[in-house]
Amino acid sequence: MIDQFGRRIEYARISVTDRCNLRCRYCMPECGVKKIPHDEILTFEDILRVTKIFARLGIRKIRLTGGEPLLRKNLPALIREIKAIYGIEQVTLTTNAVLLERCLLDLFTAEIDGINVSVDTFDEKTFSELTRRNLFEKVMRGLKLLIGKKNVKVNCVPLRGVNEKDILKLTALASENPVDVRFIELMPIGCVVDSQLEGIPTAEIFSLIESHFGKLYPVEKSLLQGPAEYFRAENFIGRIGFIDAIEHKFCATCNRIRLTAEGFLKPCLNFATGLDVKKLLRSNVDDESILQAIERTIYLKPREHFFNRVNELRDERKMYQVGG
Ligand code: GTP
Ligand code: 5AD
Ligand code: SF4
Repeated sequence: MIDQFGRRIEYARISVTDRCNLRCRYCMPECGVKKIPHDEILTFEDILRVTKIFARLGIRKIRLTGGEPLLRKNLPALIREIKAIYGIEQVTLTTNAVLLERCLLDLFTAEIDGINVSVDTFDEKTFSELTRRNLFEKVMRGLKLLIGKKNVKVNCVPLRGVNEKDILKLTALASENPVDVRFIELMPIGCVVDSQLEGIPTAEIFSLIESHFGKLYPVEKSLLQGPAEYFRAENFIGRIGFIDAIEHKFCATCNRIRLTAEGFLKPCLNFATGLDVKKLLRSNVDDESILQAIERTIYLKPREHFFNRVNELRDERKMYQVGG
């Protein structure tokens, strides 16, 4: 469907859990998170019911996120069922790769359409400091299994003084393999606010990469893609993507909505406003009325994220609660 600013909304990010097996400093508090009771989390049945309504409203792509989505039991079964919904063309996943070794076969059997993995560093010590967990080897093994497969993207959030050395190593990964490596600008959300963390602007990373790999040429976006802009240097097999969230914001062409694990529909990442879908699902309201409420919420999607006005408008939810 089309929102009040003429944007075609066709991509929903569904968080299947707010739990995570890592504690990335830019995302999760050190002490972990208060566990949401099981019955506060949407069931597979709930998710499928909402997804059918999304599909009737024109949503064609679903990305499953977390926390860490592979912590949710039987995720491949959910993927299969979502893929069977009329109107849904793609189901993809964003994971931190810790459990990939164990789950990859089942994900492929469920015919997942693409996997994004977060790999901020190739250095074990930096990994442990950044994620506060010693699970580096598992992540590396998970990543290795993905290299060479179709529709694989690697996400890195460059942080000053933390993983700068990894920028060129990750670029080399895209140069030598059929993967997209994306550099994401640190967003002032949740744990980042009041932290010492400093992101690195896209322009700086762009110059660094060009000075080592030569000129980067823009590459056309494919359909139903998210906010990254893609480039290639001469002889690159994969692509380099930039998610330039702060400076060159992509809100004018934003095509997405998100559903939190607790069933709250958020039309924009950075706004607290939205719709308590779970309440409707649990209160004997029929699908038609839920559809109308969702339609209204999507229509009112805010014009932009207003990261520069964080203190006035910000959603208090952390990144792991809103699905990355
Ligand atoms: P695809 O193009 O389908 O791969 O989607 P994606 O790049 O959005 O997926 P992914 O889950 O890998 O997210 C990558 C980064 O984009 C994360 O840092 C997200 O926080 C960021 N991102 C995702 N959605 C939004 C959004 O609506 N607004 C902003 N500002 N950033 C987003
Ligand atoms: N800013 C930018 N990216 C973030 N992610 C999590 N928190 C932030 C933030 N504050 C990224 C993770 C993962 C993706 C889903 O979201 O690194 O790759
Ligand atoms: Fe977990 Fe992803 Fe948050 Fe890291 S960024 S703590 S992997 S949800």
